[in-house]
Amino acid sequence: MHLLLLGATGLVGGHVLTQALADPNVTAITAPTRRPLPTNPRLSAPMVDFDNLPQDPALWAADVVICALGTTLKAAGSRERFYLIDHDFTLGIARLAKAHGARIFILNSAKGADPKSPVFYSRVKGETERDIQALGFQRTVLVRPGLIDGPRGEPRPFEQWAGRILAVLKPVLPRSMQANRPERIARAMLAAAWSSEPGVTVVASQDLL
Ligand SMILES: NC(=O)c1ccc[n+]([C@@H]2O[C@H](COP(=O)([O-])OP(=O)(O)OC[C@H]3O[C@@H](n4cnc5c(N)ncnc54)[C@H](OP(=O)(O)O)[C@@H]3O)[C@@H](O)[C@H]2O)c1
Repeated sequence: MHLLLLGATGLVGGHVLTQALADPNVTAITAPTRRPLPTNPRLSAPMVDFDNLPQDPALWAADVVICALGTTLKAAGSRERFYLIDHDFTLGIARLAKAHGARIFILNSAKGADPKSPVFYSRVKGETERDIQALGFQRTVLVRPGLIDGPRGEPRPFEQWAGRILAVLKPVLPRSMQANRPERIARAMLAAAWSSEPGVTVVASQDLL
């Protein structure tokens, strides 16, 4: 399987990369990034300007796409930029991958994703899911974690506090409200890559515990 991985320098994408490199059945990985990745004979990690996606077929040809690309409102700096990164970059890459033969698209979305949501973040995630589905991949997998709890290079005070609170409350919380570990999300996305079930599959946060 040739995997096209987006967001390989991030928390979830980093785990997808590690797990994919440990799986000999993943014969090649293309991971376009804006920061360098460690070298590996099975990994091609070109540095890409995501605002001006190159059209080179060699960059986008793959069997399966796993997308864990995304930002935060704070890092994006505006709602418009957030939408551009989380929605438009994802869609632009999905179109290129589909045009170059990808059959399966696996999206790291979010719990609550809904194009009709009054919450901006959930609405963007929902619109991204909707527009990816409309591209008509043979198989589309929408993975919807809740809070992603894991060590990060940069401070995210809200997420870190929420992670601590959810950890304390874990024994009494319903499974649907528990935080998700990035390595578990990565494992679910890679597992989904091997299924030939056609159509759209949604993986809820409680199925990522
Ligand atoms: N945090 C949560 O609790 C949570 C909950 C549910 C869903 N999600 C969603 O899950 C997905 C993965 O989350 P994560 O925590 O693994 O994210 P993350 O650690 O912040 O990683 C995000 C990835 O996207 C890339 N990216 C961000 N902005 C970019 C830009 N302008 N151009 C190109 N690449 C860019 C990052 O590249 P750089 O390394 O170069 O920045 C990184 O590889 C995201 O879509 C997120 O919205 C998050």
